[in-house]
Order: sequence, then structure tokens, then C-alpha cells
Amino acid sequence: MAGITAEIDTQKATKTAEHVMGLLGGAVVSGMIYLGDRMGLYRTMNSAGALTSEELARRTGLNERWVREWLYGQSVANLIDYKGESRFELSPEAASVLADEGSPFFLAGGFSGFPQQMAVLNFLPESFKSGIGLTYDQLGAEVNRGVERLLAPWFRTQLVPNALPKLDGVAAKLQAGTRVADVGCGAGVALIEMAKAYPRSDFHGYDIAKIPLAQALENAKRAGVQNVRFHDAVSEPLPEDASHDFITTFDCLHDMTRPDLVMRAIRKAIKPDGTWLIADIHGQSTFEGNLKENPLAPLMYGFSVLCCMSSALSEPGGLGLGTLGFPEPVARKMTAEAGFTRFSTRDFENPINAYYEVRP
Ligand SMILES: C[S@@+](CC[C@H](N)C(=O)[O-])C[C@H]1O[C@@H](n2cnc3c(N)ncnc32)[C@H](O)[C@@H]1O
Repeated sequence: MAGITAEIDTQKATKTAEHVMGLLGGAVVSGMIYLGDRMGLYRTMNSAGALTSEELARRTGLNERWVREWLYGQSVANLIDYKGESRFELSPEAASVLADEGSPFFLAGGFSGFPQQMAVLNFLPESFKSGIGLTYDQLGAEVNRGVERLLAPWFRTQLVPNALPKLDGVAAKLQAGTRVADVGCGAGVALIEMAKAYPRSDFHGYDIAKIPLAQALENAKRAGVQNVRFHDAVSEPLPEDASHDFITTFDCLHDMTRPDLVMRAIRKAIKPDGTWLIADIHGQSTFEGNLKENPLAPLMYGFSVLCCMSSALSEPGGLGLGTLGFPEPVARKMTAEAGFTRFSTRDFENPINAYYEVRP
């Protein structure tokens, strides 16, 4: 190729260029998934059989030409099946990922924060210079909503029926009635699911971000649960009075500026025979391990810069663990340093998360 020096391996450069174009393609298709979720296109196609663009446009109230271009894009991206004769179908399997909010496979909700998440890129050059990242409130409402909808399917379909019964003695205590805290509760989906299942127990959510806390109140109202309270952990911290039989932290320790201090507070808040369930991102214990064996690592390191490490560095002195910064060896070490003596891993069949049952 003209203008290319002899030193570079042009085949390798071509492959790299193809790879980079593929990555750009993934980003652009992510935007299209966002639109499909936001405008109800996937929901309308769910169980509707093979539709033409005219039919889909009529059913969604959208402009046919735009819907047609979106359908073409979805088909070449292998998300929607082209059935011939200008008809397009969302298979039941694709619907479980893209359309059905009640499915354990549902992922499209996680894209609802995509535009705002990308807009955060405008602020990150400053963070790269100053070292200080953005809190969840600074990330904005759509990012928080995306996090909520990304994590909600596991809470709605797995937490109560499959995970809690596998923890030593926890379900019986919840059934009898006890005090439970979810620290870093976000929009409260996990807590509300537990509160619905165990009406004799009192559930308390703690978070430092006002946006998800406001959403949590709305979610609890909509669910009609009376046994849930949410607390701004800055003004109303977790009471350190050994009163909790069960404490949970779901995908949040790696986001905290000082998870070590929060862990010590949890140690003081939990009863001597209480249980702390930790969910955190499943990853290898070293960067080299993630490089070789973690297919989700590119996504996770990206999330880290955009969101998790950013939050964990949002004030000076933050530990900055980041999305892949809390693998099992770190979890074992930090929980032991906080005064916990028992640590077991639990496999709740979630490709994203590892689970740890930790006790004093
Ligand atoms: C990824 S979100 C997870 C939210 C929720 N657990 C869920 O699964 O949907 C992480 C949450 O941790 C919260 N957080 C960060 N630092 C915190 C702290 N020191 N105490 C309580 N919450 C904190 C953030 O505000 C954010 O809502």
C-alpha cells in the first residue's frame, strides 16, 4: 500500500484495523439496542411473528423508513432474524435477552444508560489529569437507571428462590423476622424482592447517591412493600450495633472510595452469628489472568474507567479498586482485615458475578 513503510507488518495492521472497526461496530450497534429498548421495538416484536417494517412502524407509531433501516441493521448484526420477503422476526431466544424484562437473560435494560455513559467521556480527560473521578450522582440518572436494569433480572429471578436458600440458616431467620441491611443498595431492587418474600423482616437500604435512593423510594412505593426503608448513608449511616442477622453488598464494594471502612462498619453492624452476602464482579486475581482467561475483561475495564473506578476515585484518598479490583483473594484479605473469620464462595450461576458468604 502506498505510503506505508517497510517496517510494519501490513497483514497485522489490516487485522488490527478490522478489529478496531469491529469494536466501533459494537459501540454503534449498542446505540441501536438502546433505541430498540427505548422505543419499544423489541417489546412490540416479542411473540409477534415475522413483521414487515410497515407493520412494525404501525404498531409502534414510528416512521417506517427509520424502522426499516433499524431492522436492516439489527438483522446484519444477528439480533433479529430476516425471514425473507421483507419480514423480520425476533426469535424467542433473542426476545429473552432484548424484550422480556422478566427473563433472567434480559440485558437490553442495561443499555438505557448508554448515551449518558458515553457523554461521560467528555469529563474523563479531566479525571485522567486530576486523578479524581465521578460519583454515581455525577454520572447521572440514566446511568443509574442502566445499572439498575442491568442487575435487576438476577434479583428478580434468582435471589429469593435460588440464592438465599443456599446460605446457611439465612432463609429461616428471614422467615422468622429480623433486621436486614443492603449497603450500596442503589435503586433497591434486591431489597424489595427480599421484602416481598419475607414480610416479617425489616429491610434497610444504604447508599450515598441521591439519584438511586430517590428511584428506590419510587420502586418500593410501586411494589407496595411496607417493610423497607432507605437511608442516605452520609447522614444516616449503618448502625454499628450488632443488630443485623443478614447484610448484603451487591456489586458495590469495588465502586466505593473506602470499602475497607465500610467493611469495618459492616463487621460492627452484624450479629456474631450473622451472615454477609457479597456479590462482586467475577474476574481473575491478576491482570495477566484477565488478559488470558476473561472474555468479559474488555467490557469490564471499560466500565471501570467510565463508572466503577471513577466512583472509587471520586474523592481524594479513594482506593480505586475498580470493576475487576475485587476478585476472591482481595475479598478474602479485606474481609479478614475487617474482622471476619469465615469465608466461603457460592456459585449462583451468574456469569458476571462471584458470590461470597462471609461471617464473623
Ligand atoms: C453498581 S451500583 C450497585 C447498586 C445495587 N447494589 C444494585 O445491585 O443495583 C453501586 C452503588 O454503590 C453506591 N456506593 C458507592 N459508595 C458507597 C458507600 N460508601 N456507601 C454506600 N453506597 C455506596 C453507589 O452510589 C451505587 O449506587
